[in-house]
Amino acid sequence: NTNGVKAGRTRNIVEKLEETGKNCVIFYGSQTGTAEDYASRLAKEGKSRFGLDTMVADLEEYDFDNLDAIPDDKVIMFVLATYGEGEPTDNAVEFYEFITADDVTLSESNDPALGNLNYVAFGLGNNTYEHYNSMVRNVDKALQKLGAHRIGDAGEGDDGAGTMEEDFLAWKDPMWAALASKMSLEEREAVYEPIFGIVERDNLTPESSEVYLGEPNKMHLEGTAKSPFNAHNPYIAPVVESRELFSAKDRNCLHMDIDVSGSNLAYQTGDHIAIWPTNPGEEVDRFLDVIGLTEKRNNVISVKALEPTAKVPFPAPTTYDAIIRYHLEVCAPVSRQFVSTLAAFSPTEEIKAEMTRLGNDKDYFHNKTGPQFYNIARLLATIGKGEKWSNIPFSAFIEGLNKLQPRYYSISSSSLVQPKKISITAVVESQMIPGRKDPFRGVTTNYLFALKQKQHGDPNPEPFGQTYEIAGPRNKYDGIHVPVHLRHSNFKLPSDPGKPVIMVGPGTGVAPFRGFVQERANQAQNGAEVGRTLLFFGCRKSTEDFMYESEWAEYKKALGDKFEMITAFSREGNKKVYVQHRLKERAKEVNELLTQKAFFYVCGDAANMAREVNAVLAQIIAEGRGLSEQKGEEVVKHMRAANQYQEDVWS
Ligand code: 2AM
Repeated sequence: NTNGVKAGRTRNIVEKLEETGKNCVIFYGSQTGTAEDYASRLAKEGKSRFGLDTMVADLEEYDFDNLDAIPDDKVIMFVLATYGEGEPTDNAVEFYEFITADDVTLSESNDPALGNLNYVAFGLGNNTYEHYNSMVRNVDKALQKLGAHRIGDAGEGDDGAGTMEEDFLAWKDPMWAALASKMSLEEREAVYEPIFGIVERDNLTPESSEVYLGEPNKMHLEGTAKSPFNAHNPYIAPVVESRELFSAKDRNCLHMDIDVSGSNLAYQTGDHIAIWPTNPGEEVDRFLDVIGLTEKRNNVISVKALEPTAKVPFPAPTTYDAIIRYHLEVCAPVSRQFVSTLAAFSPTEEIKAEMTRLGNDKDYFHNKTGPQFYNIARLLATIGKGEKWSNIPFSAFIEGLNKLQPRYYSISSSSLVQPKKISITAVVESQMIPGRKDPFRGVTTNYLFALKQKQHGDPNPEPFGQTYEIAGPRNKYDGIHVPVHLRHSNFKLPSDPGKPVIMVGPGTGVAPFRGFVQERANQAQNGAEVGRTLLFFGCRKSTEDFMYESEWAEYKKALGDKFEMITAFSREGNKKVYVQHRLKERAKEVNELLTQKAFFYVCGDAANMAREVNAVLAQIIAEGRGLSEQKGEEVVKHMRAANQYQEDVWS
């Protein structure tokens, strides 16, 4: 089985705890892997600081009707991400429905039902969304109602404010103190105990056919990859076209067409495509250099879980190089807790003192690492002053760094028009950093940009002097390829093309609307009666970053007066003009269209733009209908609940 679910393994958590002798299970509800990473960190810390016998578990892999049979000398932790509009993550749906049901049916007849259960709860959310951390809040409430005993407070991390990591750190220490007292645990000097063992395989070379060099699973290694393609099994898709929609000094906008005709992947207009990135060669080199592994980078190693419940997060045997390049998030901002863990392995006492201070002093840490966007290797190189960090066991990186995750993009084509050719639209930003030679860039956009450069025969473009293993591991593919899978979204056109739509998408927020307009133009060409199609688009200048400018004119030919694009150029006059200002100018028509049950869509920045658009729409409705502002807000809320107002936003 490719996704690591072993056939026949027990779904009974009580049995599992007994079998493995564990006294603490950390369940995660995770969509993109962050909650899972936090769960692993709790497991590790519980073990090293308090000697707990911890295990991490996917909520999807267990049943919950015997939660009441878990003895009270054990503790259950829940690390729960809230997804989209306050929904549980896919793997937590069943648990969520079970625990929040009106009549929870449990195996024993305790009174109260979960009176024996000790639990801990932490949520991952984003305050720019309406149902902030609703998953952890609702689960906590449900557990309380059933009489379960919570240890410490229910924690809430906020990705919207960018404080997830610090929220977690601030929450966990009092939680551990409460847990230690409740379970009479003694805190001990935290000693590093590896969860994974590394064995050098001298008999193997990177050329050996059983060695993984970035292939995501066995089928890919053996060249027999087949459907279903999903989050465990990407499709290696040819890039058929790539071009720049605009380039400015600090930004390049990329359009890419990805061919999925060799697979049975099927998308719908408005869905998302996941891109599996590769780390840039320069960062891989920097990382291996600072830990003194450059010479051994291509040595073959096996990675074994030393704990029966731990899972190695990538396939092996493999090489150090491949692990860093394809599987670990080495470009991400360094975590303060990880710096604490690594302090013990410092090359000198002086460096250790500095690492310890960084780990303990939040402000010092942020002042030192934040402005420079330090990733782990950059930090170690700076603090180490040229010393190599060869004392750090390699397993510590596998345990302490996040798994390199695929990134999701809003598909910018219509599945009606190009069912097997998926378009994406991405902006690569290059942020210049004082005191640093190279700009900071996102891992995946930069990788996509490099694919485009390569396709156009520019292998080492300046200033994008980063190199990638582009033809995939082992140079397996001719041409340019990218590993992908799809994710369904609820961001959808009305099924009746005659319904009016209002779309608001500044910057790359316009991506799904290119698909929407492409689809409606096609429907019009095929004789359908298409309703009013309003697109509010914003960018800096009409001459700088106006995406798909000539295409919109084509769609206009097909849609005629039905289609209107309303632009807001923010840096042309002496005053900022944004999409929400234009929306306000069109208040009358917007109100009319809404009365005709127009669908309203917002795509792009969640933190400011989407909020402001929501507020402006509420005002427009209030003024147009003679309602109070508060009533206007309520109308928008109802529109959201009825799917008449849809968002595809990111922070
Ligand atoms: P600015 O960068 O000149 O401030 C796409 O990024 C467009 O969205 C740009 O024109 C950008 O303007 C604009 N933008 C920035 N903040 C915004 C906000 N809060 N609401 C709407 N548009 C915004």
